[in-house]
Amino acid sequence: MAVLLVGASGLFREVVPVLREANRELLGVLDDRHAALPRTIDGVPVLGGIDDVALSPDAEVLVCVGSGLARAAIVERMSRAGVDSSRYATVIDPSVRNPGGCPVGEGSILLANVSLTADAVIGAHVVAMPQVTITHDCLVEDFATLASGVSLGGGVRIGRGATLGMNASVHPGRVLGAGASVGMGAVVLADVPEGQTWAGVPARQLGVTA
Ligand SMILES: CC(C)(COP(=O)(O)OP(=O)(O)OC[C@H]1O[C@@H](n2cnc3c(N)ncnc32)[C@H](O)[C@@H]1OP(=O)(O)O)[C@@H](O)C(=O)NCCC(=O)NCCS
Repeated sequence: MAVLLVGASGLFREVVPVLREANRELLGVLDDRHAALPRTIDGVPVLGGIDDVALSPDAEVLVCVGSGLARAAIVERMSRAGVDSSRYATVIDPSVRNPGGCPVGEGSILLANVSLTADAVIGAHVVAMPQVTITHDCLVEDFATLASGVSLGGGVRIGRGATLGMNASVHPGRVLGAGASVGMGAVVLADVPEGQTWAGVPARQLGVTA
């Protein structure tokens, strides 16, 4: 089945070669900024705005937008346009290690060399960029985004739409609340409450003086 991509982003440009390597037919990309975009990007036709998803009822759909909360908003819009969860493609680079068969939800994108060890659960529309390590018993909820090199200790829970910047590490058993954000290079030793931004070593809430 052909794949219709949504969001002409950097993530889209990273996903296109993975889909091509898997011999997937790429129908095109939808983006609300389409009038200002070239007619093709990396050889993929720019077909129109997001609502034009209704014109391709047989295609699989993949939302390629880097922000998890933006992905959630687009998926919500898609569901109002009649796109249900069975329509979403899931992209797993062939180099991903998942020997225990940890479940990966629909619409999720796991790029090169992501490693899942034992009994991890990956929700829907999660993005894990290259070299992410997700160890035993982790739960990564829907729409979370893990940038390159993120490492999660055992039993970590990443809330819906939370984001971890490049090379952030999380102590085993810690919880990031929904929509929380962690800066690149952070070492997270404590739970991060919902919606807060933390950074540094050890990580602390940004904008709060001790
Ligand atoms: C943490 C982050 C989200 C903060 O972004 P922001 O709210 O725009 O913050 P600012 O850039 O205005 O910086 C605010 C302060 O936090 C500090 N800061 C920002 N990022 C930091 C980080 N990763 N570690 C330590 N300190 C950081 C800044 O130096 C600044 O300090 P100051 O107030 O003393 O000058 C961002 O810097 C970050 O790390 N994003 C992740 C990037 C990434 O990995 N993207 C994925 C790849 S595509």
